[in-house]
Amino acid sequence: MEKSLANPEIKARVEALLLQMNLDQKIGQMTQTERMSCTPEDVKNYHLGSVLSGGGSCPGDNRPDDWVRMNDAYWAASMEQSDEHLAIPIIYGVDAIHGNNNVLGATVFPHNIGLGAANDPELLQRIAQATAREILATGVEWTFAPTLAVARDKRWGRTYESYSEENTIVGSYAEKFVNGLQSDSHDDCVVACVKHWVGDGGTTHGIDQGDTALSFDELKRTHIEPYYAAIDAGVMTIMASFNSWNGDKCHGHRYLISDLLKDEMGFQGFVISDWDGIDYLSEDYFDAVGKGVNAGIDMFMVSEEWQPFLRHLKRHVQDGTVPMSRIDDAVRRILTVKFACGLFERPRPVERPWSNHECFGGSEHRDIAREAVRKSLVLLKNDSDLLPLNKQANILVAGKNAHNRGHQCGGFTVAWQGALDNETIEGGTSIWEGIHQQSPSATLSEDGRDADPEKHDVAIVVIGELPYAEGMGDIRDGNDVIVEAGSQIKGLMKVLEPYGHTLELAQLHPEDLATIQRIASKGIPVVTVLVSGRPLVVNRELDDSTSFVAAWLPGSEGQGVADVLFGDYDFQGRLSFSWPEKVSADAGIDDELFPYGYGLNYQ
Ligand code: BGC
Repeated sequence: MEKSLANPEIKARVEALLLQMNLDQKIGQMTQTERMSCTPEDVKNYHLGSVLSGGGSCPGDNRPDDWVRMNDAYWAASMEQSDEHLAIPIIYGVDAIHGNNNVLGATVFPHNIGLGAANDPELLQRIAQATAREILATGVEWTFAPTLAVARDKRWGRTYESYSEENTIVGSYAEKFVNGLQSDSHDDCVVACVKHWVGDGGTTHGIDQGDTALSFDELKRTHIEPYYAAIDAGVMTIMASFNSWNGDKCHGHRYLISDLLKDEMGFQGFVISDWDGIDYLSEDYFDAVGKGVNAGIDMFMVSEEWQPFLRHLKRHVQDGTVPMSRIDDAVRRILTVKFACGLFERPRPVERPWSNHECFGGSEHRDIAREAVRKSLVLLKNDSDLLPLNKQANILVAGKNAHNRGHQCGGFTVAWQGALDNETIEGGTSIWEGIHQQSPSATLSEDGRDADPEKHDVAIVVIGELPYAEGMGDIRDGNDVIVEAGSQIKGLMKVLEPYGHTLELAQLHPEDLATIQRIASKGIPVVTVLVSGRPLVVNRELDDSTSFVAAWLPGSEGQGVADVLFGDYDFQGRLSFSWPEKVSADAGIDDELFPYGYGLNYQ
């Protein structure tokens, strides 16, 4: 059966099933909750359509088998057929945004900003396929990826989830990533979810969940454009965004969701809310539910309060404040996706051919990740052709990010805010381990105090940011900026403590400059490798380094860095974001040090 959402055979099956459903069953399908908030019994009793894992929410010992068994229990509950219950398979969703990153031992790919620098759509498709298989290995069928944000202000904490500040790369990647996840075969299709609709990367001052103040033409040109490619590729789900557009929350925006996305752009899959995203539509939850449903959201990600959600939605329908036609439209879309990706045909998770598959975290996938690391590195400076390094040279490796697989993976890895050590990232290599494999005489000294010109020909200093996710990665003036003068954010907004108050690395992490200077002052030339989720102001670190490489957040396969530093491969990455020389306080407009597209190589 053809997997297209417009397939007439699927339509017929959807209509037949819809006819059998009562109101409780319909609104249940429209509800998704977090695994910690619901049991398999709840799934059955309340007809819930979906369960998710929030970032870092993992069953048992967090092995593929724990995930398979968990989803198997939800699936079995959803598939019980009785007078009160219809068998409709659950769809389980995770944030597999750089590999199946919640699960211990998964292959962790570079975050999107690095993939943008690689500018290699064909590689993206292979990454998506590998990710799909590692998702299927855990018995799961849906990922909230890829992110199509076009990040316009580097202070935004989610900049690393964005492929580029220009939408050309984002559009070409959207198509490949969706195709890679939603394979044509029913057995290995993972439902993709492009996010966040729309304008998430365009908020004023780069405030996460803030306000995107743009004319429609500007919104369309920059932020809407990549969604056309995703819809053409057949993406089955789209997530609404926390941000507002000119002061109105996207979650309550009927024009953006219903008129534009569904009617005009022809999206036939379903729209899911973000995490409790409708809560910000009104102080009154009943009112918020009505606004979200009537705006056109089809499925609601409700972290805990799903019982009140069900009650409120039912009352809205009984009162006539939400028309039955809107409920039917939502349920049709959800069922269409469930049929189209073959969920009704799949056996229970413990019996699926891909469940617990040995490809999970296996060498084939790690090789793709390593290739992606190599291709994502951008060489910003290489005085006196210090790079490539000779493997026989006496190399000192230093810096807080040299031997820390947690740091190099960044946020959304095992835990929502990422991991801070090597142990949590099972498999793979730290950047130091990769260097050491190729140059066994290299030595490690985290802060560089052991640097000795008699012993060391050259130093590789790996510096940069620590892991963060979402608003906790923001760079903001104060700790609690909520509604700034001139911003038009209406209503409630959750604001998390920011990562820092400046994009200047020497202020954010003075220990990094100190390490570089400690070594360089002894006359040892320094190759600096920056691990970061965004371009930072690094003028002083650049001045004191002979060579400088932007490595972004490379993920678990740190060897990819050594592959290029030693010249086994050339640099290929080009900046998909302009690099700031300094940042003016307003509008995030930077004076450029390196333009978009910049990147040196050995040739
Ligand atoms: C994020 C989404 C994510 C969701 C589920 C939200 O906080 O904004 O990108 O998919 O959580 O974990």
